[in-house]
Amino acid sequence: MNSRSKVSSLLGQLTLEEKASLCLGSDFWHTAPVERLGIPAIMVSDGPHGLRRQPDEADHVGISGSVPATCFPTACALASSWNPELVRRVGAALGREARAQGVAVVLGPGINIKRSPLCGRNFEYFSEDPLLSGVLGAAMIDGVQSQGVGASLKHYAANNQETDRLRVSAEVDERTLRELYLAGFERAVTQARPWTVMCAYNKVNGVYASEHAWLLTTVLREEWGFDGLVVSDWGAVHDRVAALAAGLDLEMPPNRGLSDAAIITAVRTGQLDERVLDTAVARVLGLVDRATASTEPPPVLDADAHHALARAAATECAVLLKNEDRLLPLRPTAGDRIAVIGEFARTPRYQGAGSSQVNPTRVDVALDELRSAVPDQVEVAFAAGYGIDTTDHDDELAAEAVALAEQAEVVVAFLGLPAADESEGFDRTHMNLPANQTVLLARLADANPNLAVVLANGSAVRLSDWEQHAKAVLECWLSGQAAGGAAADLLVGAANPSGRLAETLPLRLEDTPSYLNFPGEAGHVRYGEGIFVGYRGYDKLDCQVSYPFGHGLSYTSFGYADLTTNLTGHHQDGDLVVEVACRVTNTGDRRGKEVVQLYVRDPEASVARPVRELKAFAKVDLDPGQTTMVEFALTARDLSYWSTRLNDWALEAGEFELAVGASSRDLRLTTTVDIAAPALPVRLDGMATLQEWLADPTGSALLHKAVGTDETGRPKGILGNQELMVVIGNFPISSLAALPGFGLSHSVVHALIDQVSARDG
Ligand code: BGC
Repeated sequence: MNSRSKVSSLLGQLTLEEKASLCLGSDFWHTAPVERLGIPAIMVSDGPHGLRRQPDEADHVGISGSVPATCFPTACALASSWNPELVRRVGAALGREARAQGVAVVLGPGINIKRSPLCGRNFEYFSEDPLLSGVLGAAMIDGVQSQGVGASLKHYAANNQETDRLRVSAEVDERTLRELYLAGFERAVTQARPWTVMCAYNKVNGVYASEHAWLLTTVLREEWGFDGLVVSDWGAVHDRVAALAAGLDLEMPPNRGLSDAAIITAVRTGQLDERVLDTAVARVLGLVDRATASTEPPPVLDADAHHALARAAATECAVLLKNEDRLLPLRPTAGDRIAVIGEFARTPRYQGAGSSQVNPTRVDVALDELRSAVPDQVEVAFAAGYGIDTTDHDDELAAEAVALAEQAEVVVAFLGLPAADESEGFDRTHMNLPANQTVLLARLADANPNLAVVLANGSAVRLSDWEQHAKAVLECWLSGQAAGGAAADLLVGAANPSGRLAETLPLRLEDTPSYLNFPGEAGHVRYGEGIFVGYRGYDKLDCQVSYPFGHGLSYTSFGYADLTTNLTGHHQDGDLVVEVACRVTNTGDRRGKEVVQLYVRDPEASVARPVRELKAFAKVDLDPGQTTMVEFALTARDLSYWSTRLNDWALEAGEFELAVGASSRDLRLTTTVDIAAPALPVRLDGMATLQEWLADPTGSALLHKAVGTDETGRPKGILGNQELMVVIGNFPISSLAALPGFGLSHSVVHALIDQVSARDG
């Protein structure tokens, strides 16, 4: 029997009580079984960068430890790889571990937009950009699901802060939702078809995401064609019946005895159509069927292979922000001493806290890894320099570190955010590294200018008040259990940095576009910056930043040449494609990877548009001297904005600028294309302005005819008075009808509206 008939046969045999029970879990991590009909419970587990499966004997309230699993780089790190293929491989490994542990659905990836660097869960999210988030989210889902395990795309939607996260209402206009906060979900849903989507805790424009029919049904299912199951975030359901009616299929963890009783009563009293319940139950049964379909024995976890993958992934995630005098890679020779300073070199910070926290199979320590990576007779000496449980300056620790720095050829300082600074559950209040680290850094630089900084942090930190002390800065993010090995590989040049910033590093918190509206108050957070989040905001304000979106250096260099474009198809026919190609060459002396980024700009538009937007990217791996052709294909959607007037994507004809480069502010080649598209329709009614009537060829002709001309052929009334037109051209024509002498009486206006309505049908 195929899945659909199996589900419908089971549905026919379930009692109302059993159906209600299936719309809730049976405990913290399991769906409800119906033993009478052989319907098993399936297990779900966090999380996005490593499995957090709780052992059977655990407390099942989700707090206590989990069985060992590979801790891969967190999303903030993975995103910096700009490598969907790598993310897919990590996802597949995660899927294998889930299968090995009997987990049916992995609760990730999280792809919420980094609206503010302060969001406590930024380490769990990919980017400030929806294309990058969507592409990588889809890759992760592909990987997980390639193993016969489901993914759960979360947190849908507009969950961009932790402050008041279970109650706050994100007040976001629809254009901003469509272009920014939903676009990544749309891509991941339509391209990777996740088995499940997890709704967010918060409200969106006043309605809980768990009860948001527009989000859960209109957009997700009817527009994007999602055919999987919607699960609540843990504790996000407040009214089970309203949530069910809106499209939320499974409540986790269950409010047993309450939610099921409410569903039963609602069906019995006719408040809820039983067919709505049946639809949700069918989705739960469909998920159970998918999860139990494989007849293959579960794989055995190969911890070594997954650790090696975690290390390879972590090396691709690190972003070399600066590298003056080519300080890196380190090139120590026999007899040299490298001073490694910083507690994080010995006590690594490699993941964030909260529901995504993994119990790693092992942890690489950067200090040990560096010691084994350098040639014999090179000394790697260590001093802690600062404490990680305090921001207080410890003079003794600092003095010891400074003394060591003085006696070394080169200093590598491991700095970063203490675990207490960032976690699920709360937002940061500042972007600074702890004072004990920055004060130490200044003293180290005085002692030895050959200073490299290695950073470990899950969300952007301010660099502008300390980076002058470092010749090189390697941003490693929270890069998982193999972060230490990866850092060593990069420092000695066994690996070449190829990460690029997935988020802008601003000069200061006050420059961030959401600064005035984060995290809101009294239950509301207004997304007042609209679409101008991240680089879209900094570029629009022409604001200096420490490092722009897309930035990252390499130990080699790349040249760009021969940007070409070719248009095929037509927007009217729905098959417009803009083919873009350029040649990229490794112009340096070692193999390396470049992330070629394509940005689009619409210089003249009827709505406010970003200065540039990322619309495609490709990571290429080139030997010294090697050239490759990089090709992209843009569609009409890539050139469009969301029109709230048309309730659709709108493409305005005219010139578009296309630029390729190595970051959003390092654009190497630019060209323009001319795009033909029909004029956007305007609804010509009494509230349409005089200017809008005149901008429409039919409207203008009818208007001129109705007003008539004088004996010299000049239009009568207001149409003949250019000066007046400038002043009151933005009046709706109904309002102009009330003003005498303009030739637009109410009867003329009514006749005009009748004529255009006849035209528009
Ligand atoms: C988090 C989710 C997580 C769930 C289960 C919630 O608090 O927001 O991301 O998947 O708990 O642990």
